[in-house]
Amino acid sequence: LTRGTTTPDLAGRRVVVSAGGTREYLDPVRFLGNRSSGLQGHALARAAAARGAEVTLIAANVTLPDPAGVKVVRVETTAQLREEVVAAAASADSVVMAAAPADFRPVSVSDAKIKRAADGSAPPIELTQNPDILHEISTERARTGQVIVGFAAETGDDTGSVLDLARAKLARKGCDLLVVNDVTGGAVFGSPDNEAVVLGADGSAVEVPRGSKSALAHVIWDQVAARLS
Ligand code: CTP
Ligand code: CA
Repeated sequence: LTRGTTTPDLAGRRVVVSAGGTREYLDPVRFLGNRSSGLQGHALARAAAARGAEVTLIAANVTLPDPAGVKVVRVETTAQLREEVVAAAASADSVVMAAAPADFRPVSVSDAKIKRAADGSAPPIELTQNPDILHEISTERARTGQVIVGFAAETGDDTGSVLDLARAKLARKGCDLLVVNDVTGGAVFGSPDNEAVVLGADGSAVEVPRGSKSALAHVIWDQVAARLS
């Protein structure tokens, strides 16, 4: 716990949080996936519920126990995640996309399990791009005044620093806040801790020092609450 007392500043608000990593199936038993654990999304859902919000958690392949007092909707693929997020966003005051949707999916899913070839050859996997959920809900807002939050794990490169790349991503996505993790030289996957900068479309930047995912969740809801009121 990060707070002795929690102010119910999200009472009467409906919020949607996505968590986990999507799976893109190749056949009935195999998929392309990623290492997102769902810990940060769960921390966000718990924090919002503690602050009085009505919370829908859309969980992609998360193995953590359901947070108390939260409506949990389970999905596997990016297409399913998109459908559930778009539907829930219709009546939401805020949507936080903490999930890691796969950027690509196989062009076709085989109905039967793919077999080993007698000649030892391996089949190619042709990929196609998935829909960008955050971009869609940000640019086609279901309600005015909705606060939409994205996440970005970035490494700096010769085209720009982590914060330069994140500012460009925030503008490209059209969301209100972008929570930026610098993952240069290591991963945060499955870690209980996180460290981030919360960028606002209004030019704000709030640095959150290394700490629990719950502490980061509360800073994110502070930023959301300030924009809701
Ligand atoms: N996101 C999404 N739909 C996708 C991919 C990403 O809604 N198909 C959301 C993520 O949940 C996250 C934000 O967009 O909140 C940024 O994800 P990121 O992977 O950094 O964005 P991309 O546009 O996929 O950029 P990159 O090429 O760096 O992966
Ligand atoms: Ca991506």
